[in-house]
Amino acid sequence: MSRVLNCIVAVCPDRGIGYKGDLPWHPTRLNNEFKHFRRLTVTRTPGAEDRRNVVIMGRRTWFSIPEKNRPLNDRINIVLSRQLEAPPAGAHHLARDLASALRLLDGPSTTGGLLADQVWVIGGSSLYSEVMETPGPRRLFVTQILKQFPSDTFFPDIGPTRYRLLPEYPGVSSELQEENGIQYRFQVYQSIDP
Ligand SMILES: NC(=O)c1ccc[n+]([C@@H]2O[C@H](COP(=O)([O-])OP(=O)(O)OC[C@H]3O[C@@H](n4cnc5c(N)ncnc54)[C@H](OP(=O)(O)O)[C@@H]3O)[C@@H](O)[C@H]2O)c1
Repeated sequence: MSRVLNCIVAVCPDRGIGYKGDLPWHPTRLNNEFKHFRRLTVTRTPGAEDRRNVVIMGRRTWFSIPEKNRPLNDRINIVLSRQLEAPPAGAHHLARDLASALRLLDGPSTTGGLLADQVWVIGGSSLYSEVMETPGPRRLFVTQILKQFPSDTFFPDIGPTRYRLLPEYPGVSSELQEENGIQYRFQVYQSIDP
């Protein structure tokens, strides 16, 4: 059975996710939203505590993470780039494309497999598009930011024929959230089997 790929994103009403290499709402911090991101991406499946979760990201997303926070701890960090020759300092692995990144996770550790548990795609735009458009089981963990900010990087449209919004998801609050005057909601979408 193919592996579930989880995308996680925080998105403005116009689907903006980034501005000038940072988050659209920068320098405002949404600490509880970060905690939500961390908790979801770090938590392993019960019984898989000997494994580690994986975060896969594009080169610009990697460099958008403050240096002191790289790599994202307690997770295997894979950076995608066609230009870089070696993993950027601190990253665990470099891959030329998504398929090569996923191949790193195959197989037992004795053959170089990474003993991965959950796989999280954490941006940016083209990587989200690729994952959302290609076949296979997908989940989208979307924080809908209910305030507009200028953006130059966008999340793809979540096609209603391919994804359905789940009414609830274990461990994800359906309450309206608010921090620093910004309201937001957590949503989880699941791919509809073809
Ligand atoms: N709101 C959120 O939740 C969120 C999440 C993530 C990022 N962001 C924001 O989004 C912006 C960064 O995203 P972005 O879309 O501009 O860039 P990005 O996807 O992070 O990085 C683009 C680069 O990554 C590499 N890449 C991407 N997909 C690849 C693939 N399939 N195979 C091989 N290489 C691939 C390429 O690197 P090379 O050019 O080296 O080949 C490409 O130029 C920042 O502003 C960041 O703050 C926001």
